[in-house]
Amino acid sequence: MTEPEHLILGIESSCDETAAAIVAGRRRILSSVVASQTEIHRKYGGVVPELASREHLCQIVPVVREAVEQAHVTLRDIDAIAVTNGPGLVGALLVGVTYGKVLAQALGKPLIAVNHLAGHVHAVFLEASSAGRSPQLPAVCLIVSGGHTVIYHVTSELANGAERFSYARIGGTRDDAAGEACDKVARMLALGYPGGPIIDRLAPYGNPNAIRFGEPKMSGNVYDFSFSGIKTAVLYHLRRNPQLEPEIEARRQALARGERSADALRTLSSPATLDLIASFQCAVVDNLVGRTLAAVDQRGARTVLVSGGVAANSELRRTFEAEAARRNIEVYFPSRALSTDNAAMIAAAGYPRFLAGECADFSLNAVPNLALA
Ligand code: KG4
Ligand code: ZN
Repeated sequence: MTEPEHLILGIESSCDETAAAIVAGRRRILSSVVASQTEIHRKYGGVVPELASREHLCQIVPVVREAVEQAHVTLRDIDAIAVTNGPGLVGALLVGVTYGKVLAQALGKPLIAVNHLAGHVHAVFLEASSAGRSPQLPAVCLIVSGGHTVIYHVTSELANGAERFSYARIGGTRDDAAGEACDKVARMLALGYPGGPIIDRLAPYGNPNAIRFGEPKMSGNVYDFSFSGIKTAVLYHLRRNPQLEPEIEARRQALARGERSADALRTLSSPATLDLIASFQCAVVDNLVGRTLAAVDQRGARTVLVSGGVAANSELRRTFEAEAARRNIEVYFPSRALSTDNAAMIAAAGYPRFLAGECADFSLNAVPNLALA
């Protein structure tokens, strides 16, 4: 039986992207608009919460309007509104939640609350189903971004004809998220913001085995991550190698002139710096892949899902793909556009909840530490 294609308007404002999207059914993205605040936060080297909230306020109305126009529908055609209500920055979340509530009230449409992390999981399903593929559950899912690094066991069951997803947390970072560590190391090396994409572009020019960062020493949950140790090791390496200081200063000046392309920064980087970048990336990737595959083995899963901004990393993708082929398991990534924060993934995560009639009421609030269950 073919499912009717309900139209879901997704709204996302948990961090530094104001996003809206219209998704039909579980696979057709009619529009996905993302207003990124990278330029606003660049000079601070990270997201400034007050600036983020203010910018969401300016962007939310035009972004939703644009998503509706690009989809060639009207707000009246929408069947439900799905909005991120956590986790994230409280002031940022409140903009989307308040706007979603007002819109749902004004249009008389159901409102669906979506956990941002469930959105990242559903970004993988959305991408796969648009390509006619269907990841087998149970799966182990690594969500790895600037704000999160966490492994879940994802299962689903049919309840009253609707698919109901459950998420059990296996492990997560005890300090920095992997993307946050990339951003901080890029800042130390004067490579610009955000750091992950530029590290990704420069790492192939260095030797990943030049510097050994070692495994973080941790007791307790073996599926937990720690990235602050690797970040501090980079800092100590720079202190022991003061000869790298002049080129850091040269790159800082280049960035101040607006020269932030990978080619420009590479010509200002010595082989020693490129080796450091490659070795750092290798340590982060080995950690992420090693812990995730250990969780896959422990759960006996046949499917791995990898999502979040850092899932765009070429070396991470290559390593997961090689390991998955070796173990004869399946690995799924969203496209790069669906890896970073967007609202199509929020609409997709809201869809099964809409079908199950799990609607929020107007007491819905932003929950900065919302857990995924
Ligand atoms: O998912 P996202 O857009 O926002 C958060 O929820 O954090 O992820 C942004 C993070 C940043 O830390 C950025 O440096 C990192 O993802 N990132 C990457 C790459 N592209 C973005 N890290 C490594 N390699 C990349 N290609
Ligand atoms: Zn995210």
